[in-house]
Amino acid sequence: MPALGFGTLIPDPAVTITATRDALEAGFRHFDCAERYRNEREVGEALQAGLAAGGIAREDIFVTTKVWNTNHRPERVEPAFDASLDRLRLNYLNLYLMHTPFAFQPGDEQDPRDQNGDVIYDDGVTLLATWRAMENLVDHGRCRAIGLSDIGLNELVPLYEAARIKPAVVQVESHPYLPETELLEFCKEKGIVLLAFAPLGHGMTSGPLKDPVITAIAARVGKTPAQVLLAWAVQRGTALLTTPRSAARARENFDISALPEDALDEINRIQTRQRLNEVVKTGSPGFIPRSR
Ligand SMILES: NC(=O)c1ccc[n+]([C@@H]2O[C@H](COP(=O)([O-])OP(=O)(O)OC[C@H]3O[C@@H](n4cnc5c(N)ncnc54)[C@H](OP(=O)(O)O)[C@@H]3O)[C@@H](O)[C@H]2O)c1
Repeated sequence: MPALGFGTLIPDPAVTITATRDALEAGFRHFDCAERYRNEREVGEALQAGLAAGGIAREDIFVTTKVWNTNHRPERVEPAFDASLDRLRLNYLNLYLMHTPFAFQPGDEQDPRDQNGDVIYDDGVTLLATWRAMENLVDHGRCRAIGLSDIGLNELVPLYEAARIKPAVVQVESHPYLPETELLEFCKEKGIVLLAFAPLGHGMTSGPLKDPVITAIAARVGKTPAQVLLAWAVQRGTALLTTPRSAARARENFDISALPEDALDEINRIQTRQRLNEVVKTGSPGFIPRSR
C-alpha cells in the first residue's frame, strides 16, 4: 500500500472527477473511496480515463472502498461490494473496509432516522458476522485485503482475536492533535497499517495546519505546513489519506521529504488534543453533509 493516499470524500461530483485526475497526475497511486461518499461512479470514471491517458496499469494503483453501516448484515455484504466495484469500474479491490463498527437499519436509506431524528441502529448483527462475510470476499479473490475504520482498541482487539483473516488496515482520524499512540503501537505490534485520515486536520483553520510549532518547522525546513504534517505522519509509521482539491495542492501534498529528528520530537510534544470527526462515537459521518 503506498503510504500517501488520496481520499475521495468530495461532495461535488465534478470536483471529484478533476481532483481524482489531478491526484493521479501528481503521482498518487492509492485511492480511498466509500459507498457512503456517493461518488464512486465519478472516481471510477476519473481513474479509468487517467489510467488510459497516463499509460498506468491497474496493478500500479491501490484502491480501497468501504461497506456502509446499512450493509452490515452478512447477506448484504457481497451485493454492496459488487455494486461498489461496478460503480468504480474495477474487477477487484486492493482493500475493503468496514466503514464503521456501527450497524444501521439495513436498507437503501443510508441515514435511517426515527421520528425524533435519531439514527436507527441494527442490533441484529454482530461485528464478527459482518467480518466473516468480508473474509469470504478475500477467500474468493474479490479483494486482496480487508480492514476496519473508525474503531477503537476496545472493539478492535476482540475482533482481531476472533478473525480468521486478520485486519490488514485500520483507518482512523489521526494528526498531531489526535496521535492515537496506543492504537498505533497495537497496530505496529500486529503488523496492521494505521491509515490516518484528516492528517491536515481536515483543513480547519483552528487545526494543526496553523499550529505555531508546525508553521515554525515549515519555515525552518523550507516546506509548507501541509508537507510537514504529512511527512510527520509517514515518519511515525502511518499511511495517510489527504484530499487536495486542486492540481497545485495535489503536487504540494505529494512532494514530501523526511523531517529532521528534532522536528519530529517537537511535533510529538504538542499538547493540544482535538477530535474533529465524531463518527467513531456514533457511526454518523462527521464530514459528510446530511442532506442529499
Ligand atoms: N473513515 C472515515 O470515517 C473517514 C472520515 C473522514 C475522511 N476519511 C477519508 O480521509 C480522506 C482525507 O480526509 P480529509 O479530507 O479530512 O483530509 P485532509 O487532507 O486533512 O483535509 C482536507 C482539507 O485540507 C485542505 N488542504 C488540502 N491540501 C492542503 C494544503 N496543501 N494546504 C492547505 N490546505 C490543504 C483541503 O482544502 P481544499 O479543499 O481547499 O483543497 C481540504 O479542506 C477523505 O477524503 C476520506 O477518504 C475517512
